[in-house]
Amino acid sequence: MSTPTLSSHTDSLGDLRVAHQQLDSISMRELFAADPERFDRFHVEFDGLLYDYSKQRVTQHALNLLLVHAEKRQLREAIGHMFAGDPLNFTEQRSAWHVALRAGDQAPAVVHSVLERMAPIVDALRCGTWRGSTGKPITHVVNLGIGGSDLGPRLVVQALANRHSPIHVDFIAGLDPAEFNGVLANADAEQTLFIISSKSFGTTETLTNARAAMDWLRQALGNNTHLAPHLLAVTNRPKAALALGIPAEQCLPLPEWVGGRFSLWSAVGLPIACAIGMEGFTQLLAGANSVDRHFANAPLAQNIPVLMGLFGWWNVFALRATTHAILPYSYRLRELTAHLQQLEMESNGKSVDRAGKKVDYLTAPVMWGGAEPMGQHAFHQLLYQGTRTTPLDFILIAGGDDPRQCTLFENGLAQSAALMMGKTLDEAHAELLSTGHSAEEAKRLAPHLVCRGNQPSSTLLLPDLTPYSVGQLLALYEHKVYVQGVLWNINSFDQYGVEFGKQMANKLADQHDGPTDPSLDGSTCGLLRARRRMRGES
Ligand code: F6P
Repeated sequence: MSTPTLSSHTDSLGDLRVAHQQLDSISMRELFAADPERFDRFHVEFDGLLYDYSKQRVTQHALNLLLVHAEKRQLREAIGHMFAGDPLNFTEQRSAWHVALRAGDQAPAVVHSVLERMAPIVDALRCGTWRGSTGKPITHVVNLGIGGSDLGPRLVVQALANRHSPIHVDFIAGLDPAEFNGVLANADAEQTLFIISSKSFGTTETLTNARAAMDWLRQALGNNTHLAPHLLAVTNRPKAALALGIPAEQCLPLPEWVGGRFSLWSAVGLPIACAIGMEGFTQLLAGANSVDRHFANAPLAQNIPVLMGLFGWWNVFALRATTHAILPYSYRLRELTAHLQQLEMESNGKSVDRAGKKVDYLTAPVMWGGAEPMGQHAFHQLLYQGTRTTPLDFILIAGGDDPRQCTLFENGLAQSAALMMGKTLDEAHAELLSTGHSAEEAKRLAPHLVCRGNQPSSTLLLPDLTPYSVGQLLALYEHKVYVQGVLWNINSFDQYGVEFGKQMANKLADQHDGPTDPSLDGSTCGLLRARRRMRGES
C-alpha cells in the first residue's frame, strides 16, 4: 500500500488556505442570502437519511478544493484498501476490516459461523429455554466490558431496547464497586447471566468485574453451584476464557482484524442481540452495510462520510477548532457522544504521521456533547456568546407520533438556525426598542444581547430510530473517522497511548505498601503516601 507524502498535497493545502482567507470575512447568513439554493446544493439524501452541510462555512469553490485535496491524499484508494482488508493498522500488522462483519452474503465464512453460533444462544435466552443453574429461565443479561466492548453495545441497547424485550440488558464497565453494586442491587442471581466481553481477555477492569460477578453468583447460589449457565464470553483469546471457567461452547470468537471500537457488529454485539433479537441485529448490520456500499461507491462529492470527514478536517485546519460537539436530539441516543469520543479520539488522537514523523498540524478535536435539549439550558450559552468557534453535529429524528417529539425536533432545528444566524448589534438594539426599552437602555444593553452566529454545523436527519437507521448512523461516523485519518496521514487503528496508561496503572498496582519504584515522580509518590496516611496505614 503506498503512503502518500505531505509534499504531494502541499499545493492543495495552499489553495485551501487562500479559500479560507477569502471566506473569513463572509458570514454564513450572507452566504445563504446570496444563494437561495444553498440548501438544495449542499445536502445529500441517501437510503432514507439526509445529511445537510449547508451550515458549514464553505462555498462551492472551497468544497471543490476540499474534494481535490481528498483526491490528492488518495482517499479513493484508501477506501479501497479498507474494503480489501489490507493491513491499514500497519503498526500492529492488522487489517481494520470491520466492514466485513456486516457484508451479508459477501462476508467471510468466519463471520457467518459466529452469527450462526450467536443465533441459538440469543433465541434460547429470548424464548426462556436458557436456564440458570437452579432451572429458572435467564431474564437478565449483564455485559462486563469496557471501551469498545461496552460503549457501542451500550449505546445501541439504549437506543433500541424496549420494555417488551424478554431480556433486560445492563452494562458494568468500571472498577468502582458502586457501579457493580448499583446495577446488581435488585438482580436475581438465579436469572442473571454475565457476558464477559474482552477482545484481549486481559483488561483489568473487565477481569476484575468477571471475578466479582462469579463471587456474587456463588454467594447467592451456593459455593458448589455450577456457574457455567450464567456465563458467556466474547474474546479473541478463548484459552484465557476457558481458564476462567467458561466452557468453549459458551465462548464466542472475535477476529483479530476487528478493532475494539469497531467491534459492536461482531459477537461483541451479543447484548444488542439479546435485547432486540437476532432479526433486529441483522437489520443493524444491514443498515451499516448500506452505508458501507455508499462509502465504497458514491462519488466523493455525494459521499456522506467523505463529506463529514472533509468538514471535520476543514474545521480543524481552517477554523482551528479544537473541539467538536455531538448533539443528538434524542434521549435514546444519549450514549452516542461517549461512543464517538472513543471512536474519534482513540482513533485520531495522534501526533505522528504514518512515517513516524511529528505532525505540524492539529489532528482530532476533543469530542463532547450530550443528548438534547438539556444542553440548551446549560452549555449553549457559550456557543452563542463565547469566544470559540465550535463545530456541531445535530442529529435529528423526523418521525414519532408524540407531539413532544415534534417539539424536540423543532428545538434542534431552531438551535442550528440560531447558532448560524446569530444576532447583530443592530438587531439587538431594535429588539430592545420593540420590547419597550428606552433608547438609552437599548444602547447600553444591546452589546450584551449580541450572538456571534457563524457556528459551523451539519445536520443528520434520520427518519426514525430503528435498528437499520442506527446501523447507518454508526457506520457513517466510523467512516468519517477513517477519512479524517487519511487526510491527517495518521494510523487511525492503533492506540499506544492507551497502552502506556495501562502500563502506568500496572506499575502503581505494585505500590500498595508505599512508593518503592524510584522511577515514579514526586507528585505520584506524595499522593501514594498521603493515601496511606488517610487510610491509617502509616
Ligand atoms: O484501553 C483501550 C482499549 O484497548 C480499547 O481500544 C478497547 O476497546 C478496550 O480497551 C477494551 O479492550 P478489551 O476488549 O481487550 O478488553
